[in-house]
Amino acid sequence: MRDAETFTVDHPGFSTQQVIGPSMLSLDGAAHRLHRDPFATPFRLQAIRSDVTPWIEQRALELIARVEPAGSADLRRALARPLAVDTMAYVLGLDGIGAEEVVGWYEAIVQSVDSVTVGSGVTREGAEAFAELSHAVLASLDTSPLLLAVQSGGDLTPDEIASNVAVLLFGGIVTGDGTNSLVIQHLLGNDGLLRRVMDAPALMPGVVDESLRLEPAAAAVDRFATRSVTIGGQEVTRGDLVRVSLTAANRDPDIFSEPDVFDVDRANRAKHLTFARGAHACLGIHLARAEAISVVGAVVGRLHRPALMSDQSMSPVGLVFRSPERVPVVWEPTKTPMHD
Ligand code: HEM
Repeated sequence: MRDAETFTVDHPGFSTQQVIGPSMLSLDGAAHRLHRDPFATPFRLQAIRSDVTPWIEQRALELIARVEPAGSADLRRALARPLAVDTMAYVLGLDGIGAEEVVGWYEAIVQSVDSVTVGSGVTREGAEAFAELSHAVLASLDTSPLLLAVQSGGDLTPDEIASNVAVLLFGGIVTGDGTNSLVIQHLLGNDGLLRRVMDAPALMPGVVDESLRLEPAAAAVDRFATRSVTIGGQEVTRGDLVRVSLTAANRDPDIFSEPDVFDVDRANRAKHLTFARGAHACLGIHLARAEAISVVGAVVGRLHRPALMSDQSMSPVGLVFRSPERVPVVWEPTKTPMHD
């Protein structure tokens, strides 16, 4: 992942380009920087911490307050996924565009990328969704704080901005949904962990990192070899598809002792490759972590004795994007915020 010259994303086999046009996700070198750099500042840690995290924390509490009186819920549908979608809608700040439209475009674009991947070409729905998204971007160029920052940060055309906004959409929703769901499962699925976090909230970022290590929501990234090369003792021929398994890397026994064990005390837990490395390292890393930490905070802070419904708990599914299909949780409903 650190060698974009030898292992590139800029290849006809990279299906996103056919659906949304060239973007930071499908370009390398100077062209990549031209597309990515204008988006860098709004997604830096400081900007996320001051401009977005308070909103995310509040939104997580609002979502959990809706289901708290019920005493049980699928927290993927009640918290993990809506927080990922609402956060992207908020961050994009497209005029008059709510979470529902955003998720509609996202699903149509992802289905179209899948259709291209299996050789069935761009779907009509995918093309229409991207056209509508592009239109919303054009209409918000002078109002969306993110788009104003992008324009002042570089020389992208409105169409190029729209292509990269589409990347943000599917870069942030499916992975956010999966990551938020998995962290709830790990928080409640490991004996004694909930108690430890209640006693020491400073553990929350560690819980998130160990969850990201053990089950990355984006399990693999693709590259194409630009020349024949030997890596890890293996011959790779020019033009080969090289699939980088982030899940396998995060369980490399040479790096992580007892790699299949969830261990929040693991000293090198943040050494995981879940957000990739090199030129294409995840632009949304700080946003993603803020979401997942807010999810842990909402579950620990607002649910009394939460527990996974053991008879219904589910292992993560998916080849590239992974998440449990549901996260059924039960707790003792209370009206007022819980203080044990
Ligand atoms: C929630 C957990 C997330 C995970 C696990 C994740 C994972 C990744 C990975 C593995 C890549 C590298 C792709 C590659 O190298 O081919 C990536 C790139 C990217 N991610 Fe994320 N991501 C997450 C959240 C987000 C969020 C919330 C955003 C929204 C801003 C985002 C935006 C992006 C963008 C724009 C790229 C492309 C960067 C480039 O190619 O220069 N991601 N992400």
